[in-house]
Amino acid sequence: MKSLIKTNLILLSSSLCAISLFIFISILFFTTSKIVTLDIGSFSPQATKSNPTNVNHLVFGIASSGNSWPKRQKYAKLWWNKKFKGCVFVDNLPHEENDNNINVPPLCVSQDTSKFNYTYRHGGLRSAIRVARVVKETVELNHSNVRWYVFGDDDTIFFPENLVKTLSKYDHRLWYYVGAYSENYEGSQTFGFGMAFGGGGFVLSASLANVLAKVFDSCIERYSHLYGSDARVFSCISELGVGLTYEPGFHQVDMRGNIFGLLAAHPLSPLLSLHHPDITDAIFPNMTTSKSLQHLFKAANVDSQRILQQTVCYERQFSRTISVSWGYAVQVFQNNVLLPDVLRVQETFKPWKENHVLAGVYTFSTREIHHDPCKRPKIFYLDNVSSGKDGIVSSYTKSFHNCSNDKTSSKNLEVIKVVTNKLDLDSKQLQNPRRQCCDVLNSNSGHLMEIAIRECNYEELIYMH
Ligand SMILES: *[C@@H]1O[C@H](CO)[C@@H](O)[C@H](O)[C@H]1NC(C)=O
Ligand SMILES: *[C@@H]1O[C@H](CO)[C@@H](O)[C@H](O)[C@H]1NC(C)=O
Ligand SMILES: *[C@@H]1O[C@H](CO)[C@@H](O)[C@H](O)[C@H]1NC(C)=O
Ligand SMILES: *[C@@H]1O[C@H](CO)[C@@H](O)[C@H](O)[C@H]1NC(C)=O
Ligand SMILES: *[C@@H]1O[C@H](CO)[C@@H](O)[C@H](O)[C@H]1NC(C)=O
Repeated sequence: MKSLIKTNLILLSSSLCAISLFIFISILFFTTSKIVTLDIGSFSPQATKSNPTNVNHLVFGIASSGNSWPKRQKYAKLWWNKKFKGCVFVDNLPHEENDNNINVPPLCVSQDTSKFNYTYRHGGLRSAIRVARVVKETVELNHSNVRWYVFGDDDTIFFPENLVKTLSKYDHRLWYYVGAYSENYEGSQTFGFGMAFGGGGFVLSASLANVLAKVFDSCIERYSHLYGSDARVFSCISELGVGLTYEPGFHQVDMRGNIFGLLAAHPLSPLLSLHHPDITDAIFPNMTTSKSLQHLFKAANVDSQRILQQTVCYERQFSRTISVSWGYAVQVFQNNVLLPDVLRVQETFKPWKENHVLAGVYTFSTREIHHDPCKRPKIFYLDNVSSGKDGIVSSYTKSFHNCSNDKTSSKNLEVIKVVTNKLDLDSKQLQNPRRQCCDVLNSNSGHLMEIAIRECNYEELIYMH
């Protein structure tokens, strides 16, 4: 199929290098939605029950460029599997060809977009048009038996099993536009809380994508004044009368530095994507960005649905609060921290734009880091995960804690072991999630702490008893 695509498409000689294809500084004009009647034909509701959505029902359209792909393919390698369908769209083929042995999506050369106007006034890249048309060109790969089209950048890291699980909540025969706005308040306010930010990735049901592909070129003519590709896609979906289905597992990650706080307080919903790995710090200390992401995938490959899910236990004897962000880190607070406060995102990161009135204003609740390093939680990062007959055991080891005279009960604590069962969310839990509970198994001031995660009892409350 690869060669077929290459010969069918016209090579574009543009040398534009779009590094951050989905970064935006423009103002979006909302369109008033037209009311449409969906013709979804006749179908039996049982059709998907007996034939649940799996990864073969997805087609991926990844936006890249000849310049960017050689540097970014390492991110696709983290999550791509040879069985997946889809393409990486480039303006021209990179000098270094894809090695057929490595696990990355095939390349497709985008069609010529020179006939479209790009009139955004404050700079910006006209490759936004080419990238927006990835939606149309992915549909036109003509794969059969497609339920969902998944779009992202070459620096979007997807969690495919969780995508499949999440999308199984929705009926692909209806028109769905699934994604998330930015963490950055100014970005979301400017581009719209109704827009799926492209770098975080977004999904269209096949029924919507097929219609959108047909009308796309006629629609984008009206949006030549916009900055980015995702605003073009959003505008045309708005013209079809469809709104965003918000899924908090998509992460645009419009922030800089250490995103520990964001990852450690993930919403009660499966992790679907991460973005901007080149802009943020490596997510584990003392590792390169790539190594740190591979390390996270060691846990994701054992229990994808549980990755980053936050469970909090209270230990009365030493009055400690323990927050497990599964597969990533455990935090030990040396005091009683009420649950709603533990669930707030610690502001470990820096804003996207430092010098803006709304810098540091986010679209989630945050908590400042304590000014005294000794009063901050101790952080234990994932060391290893193993799956055996006693369930899944993940271990976390102590990281540097900037406090020279530690006299707390956690002074000697070096390792935390967490025992879980594999999470396999059924449709009820996906629609209506409930946080799990945990127990501290051994409670001493030694060097090992063991924790077991389980479902909460019917009336159980999570607090310091
Ligand atoms: C592009 O802009 C020019 C000048 O404003 C206009 O004449 C032309 O019709 C536009 N082309 C398209 C395809 O919109
Ligand atoms: C997909 O089908 C359309 C319409 O039949 C055709 O024009 C196009 O060339 C096909 N694309 C590929 C990649 O085969
Ligand atoms: C990590 O896994 C290895 C092999 O299963 C095991 O020997 C080792 O003790 C584990 N490390 C920790 C800290 O649990
Ligand atoms: C990182 O490495 C340095 C030097 O080897 C070590 O002192 C430090 O404790 C390490 N940090 C973490 C979080 O493991
Ligand atoms: C440790 O904390 C002190 C006092 O807050 C601070 O001055 C210093 O920069 C910190 N060191 C590190 C490595 O974070």
